[in-house]
Formats: sequence, C-alpha cells, structure tokens
Amino acid sequence: MPAIVIVGAQWGDEGKGKATDHLGSQVDYVVKFNGGNNAGHTVVIRQENGDVEKYALHLLPSGILTPGCTPVIGNGVVVDIDVLFQEIDGLEARGIDTSSLKLSANAHVIADYNRTLDKVTERFLGSRKIGTTGRGIGPTYADKMNRIGIRVQDLFDEKILTQKVEGALELKSQILTKIYNRRAPSVEQTVEELRSHADRLAPYVCDTGLLLSQALDRGDVVLMEAGQATLLDVDHGTYPFVTSSSAVSAGACTGTGIPPTRIDQVIAIAKAYTTRVGEGPFPTELHDDNGEFLRKAGWEYGTTTGRPRRCGWMDTVITRYAARVNGVTDFVLTKLDTLTGLAELPVCVAYDVDGVRHDEMPVNQTDFHHAVPIYENLPGWTEDISGCRSFEELPKAARDYVEYVEARSGARISVVGVGPEREQAVVRHPLR
Ligand code: GDP
Ligand code: IMO
Ligand code: MG
Repeated sequence: MPAIVIVGAQWGDEGKGKATDHLGSQVDYVVKFNGGNNAGHTVVIRQENGDVEKYALHLLPSGILTPGCTPVIGNGVVVDIDVLFQEIDGLEARGIDTSSLKLSANAHVIADYNRTLDKVTERFLGSRKIGTTGRGIGPTYADKMNRIGIRVQDLFDEKILTQKVEGALELKSQILTKIYNRRAPSVEQTVEELRSHADRLAPYVCDTGLLLSQALDRGDVVLMEAGQATLLDVDHGTYPFVTSSSAVSAGACTGTGIPPTRIDQVIAIAKAYTTRVGEGPFPTELHDDNGEFLRKAGWEYGTTTGRPRRCGWMDTVITRYAARVNGVTDFVLTKLDTLTGLAELPVCVAYDVDGVRHDEMPVNQTDFHHAVPIYENLPGWTEDISGCRSFEELPKAARDYVEYVEARSGARISVVGVGPEREQAVVRHPLR
C-alpha cells in the first residue's frame, strides 16, 4: 500500500514535474493535493524518433503524461475550470489521453471575482505586495477558510450555487466597487458562468478520497505531488511571502484524504542552487554576474508567468529545514548541470544575524530578512555532465558537491538531475 509524497524543498520550481514524471511508470495514481494554476511544471520527453516534446502543466498532475497512470485532482486544490479545460484540450490535441482524470467533488473553484481581487489587492499593497501569480489563489483559499467558498459539487445544484454565490458576493461586490472602484459581477452572471461548465465537468467528478483509499487497499501505488514548496507553505514558509495552501508533506493528507499512517516515503526536490519568484526574503540571492549566469544557464524564467526567477547559491539551512518539516526520506537534487563552468561554488551552511550564528532557520521572520549567509566554498568543474548516467561518471568536484550538500541536508540524495529530459538523471538509490 505504498503512498509517496513529492514536495519542493525551496521556493518552488525545483523540478517536481520532472521527478513525478520520472516515477510515472511505476505508480498507479498521481494526485495533486494543493495549489492550483499558480503552479507550473515543465516535463521534457524525448520521443523514440528523437524529437523532444515539452509540456507545461499547471492544474493537471504531471502523471497525466504517463499512459496507465490515473491523474487525480484532490480536495485541497483550487480549480480554475476554464484553465482545466484549456489544459485538457491542449494535451488531447497533442495525443495525450486525459479521459481517466478524476476531480474531487470537494475541491474549491476559483470564481472570476477572486481572480480580480487577487490582482487589485496586489496593486493596492504597492511596495508591500506579495508578487502573486494573479490567478485568484489567495482569495479562493481565504473564502474556503471563511466558509464562503464554492466547491465543485455546488456546480451541479443551481439553487445551492446561487445561494453560495449570493453569500460570497454580498461583501465582495462592496469591496470591489467601493474600495477598488471595480465593477462587481452579478450573482446571475457568476452562476451562469460556473454552471456552463457543469455538464462537461460531471464525468470527472467523484469522491477521490474513497477512490485513493480503495486503491491503497488493493496495493496500488499512489503518488501525491505538491505544487509550490516548503518555504512557500502558508504555515512553514516565509510568511507573508508565501502561497495560501499547505505545500509541505502534511498537506498531502488534508489535501487528499489519505491519512499520515499510510505514507511511507517523502521525496523532496531541491535545486542544486536556489531560486525564488515573487517578493520576500532570500539570503543567498545574487545580484551579480553569478546570479545572471545561473538565470541564463538554468533558463530561470517562470513556467506560469514568464517572470525572471531570482537566483542564488545553494542554501543547506533551507534544505535541512525542509528535511525536518517534511520528514524527507530522499532528496532529488536537480539541475547540477547548470553549475558547470563556475570556478567556485559557495554553499550556505548557516546565517549570521547581527553577529549571532544561526545554524537553523531563525525563529523570527525579521531575523531571516537580515540573515547574512555563512559560506563554505567548494571547487567547481568544467566537464559537460549532461550525458552522465552514473554517480561514478560525474567529475570528482561534482560528486564532492553532491556529498557535501547531502551531509548537511539531513537525508540522502537519491537522484541527481543532469538535464531537463526524462532520462537525464543519475540514480544513486532507486526511488522505487
Ligand atoms: P516544478 O514547478 O518544480 O515542476 O519545476 P519547473 O518545471 O517550474 O522548473 C524546473 C525547470 O528545470 C524546468 O524547465 C525543467 O525542465 C528543468 N529541469 C528539471 N530538472 C532539471 C535538471 O536536472 N537539469 C536541467 N538543466 N533542467 C532541469
Ligand atoms: P511550482 O509548483 C514558484 C509564488 C508566487 C508568489 C507567492 C504567492 O511551479 O513550484 P500565489 O499566486 O500562489 O498566491 O503567489 O508564491 N508561487 C510560486 N513560485 N513556483 C510555484 O509553483 C509558485 N506558486 C506560487 O510567485 O511569490
Ligand atoms: Mg514551477
């Protein structure tokens, strides 16, 4: 009954999509458990004829690309239905069968007014903005907690849906018109918009918690895939510069209905350096040529918004924190190839905050904002490593780098990524 969780160890975009896809053929179900179309997972697959196919997934679990693997959108996800159908249509047009998709009846739906609120709130915050993806994620989770959210199941009952939209818009239309000077949609408009999707959505909708529980009882393998990452988690991340969902391994339980006692493996994906999109503290961020090198060599531009990602050195205070918070059993260290050509590779081992050394994440967020990294400098390598398929094939400096990061991160590094393609990985310990 193996249930596996994949999480991001840093601030997102670590290569979770590639790792999920890597495991795809060995798992029966891939479940997305949090977030929505704020996520962007790139999967690159080389076809038998040598052509390279690149997929950018936002709302659909990355397992959708593997024939025979059932993709599931769990109750913890917030769903933009237009985006869902756009993604389904896009994949179908490329010959990917999406008919086995399952969608939780309890997942919340992103209504148009919440997309608008996300954008206008950010503008209103000015210099205090979060740098959200503008997809309506935060306001939709806020509605869920405020108990004025719209769930997938509500779309099939016009009377209930109308009552719920009325409830939500009572206050929101005042906020939109009186504070933000925006036009608020009418209840009828919103209901009609949401209802228009109901017939097409119906075949996908089910009790996904029950489905997954029965799958585990049968001995099927269930992989739960996080969007975002540990430091973007609403409880354990760099609040308030976080997303609005539980992106750590514990979120896989609430976001799917699978209990903690059934999870046997937690795989954290960590980049061999660090990146972040949006605002918020980032101790090892580089504003020099090295930062530019990482952005160019790693093609660090957002899959969802196209924004350039902020880049910095590897931070093992963060990966150690991720190991602790998520109960990591295996790390996948991605994009080691991006570091090729750098003469020296500083790795952050602790922070200096106003003269005090911190080996762990500072308890006070203000201290984290002022944290100055304490680095250990490791030698780099110049050899192209993208063709390496075993640890022994890597240059000694690359092996030393992996082992150094492993020793400081609190869990073994089982796989090392050496390129974006499915096969471009060095497996030290098979994940399954
Ligand atoms: P996710 O959000 O965690 O799924 O990550 P993204 O897909 O947003 O960003 C990771 C990017 O790195 C994608 O463009 C991947 O194709 C790419 N990638 C993943 N692993 C590797 C690797 O080992 N080497 C290189 N060069 N690229 C990788
Ligand atoms: P994946 O799954 C990187 C960031 C946004 C912003 C903050 C809040 O591809 O790793 P939101 O729209 O969620 O309210 O924005 O979180 N963010 C991500 N950064 N990767 C992601 O997803 C992200 N999803 C949200 O940039 O700083
Ligand atoms: Mg991403």
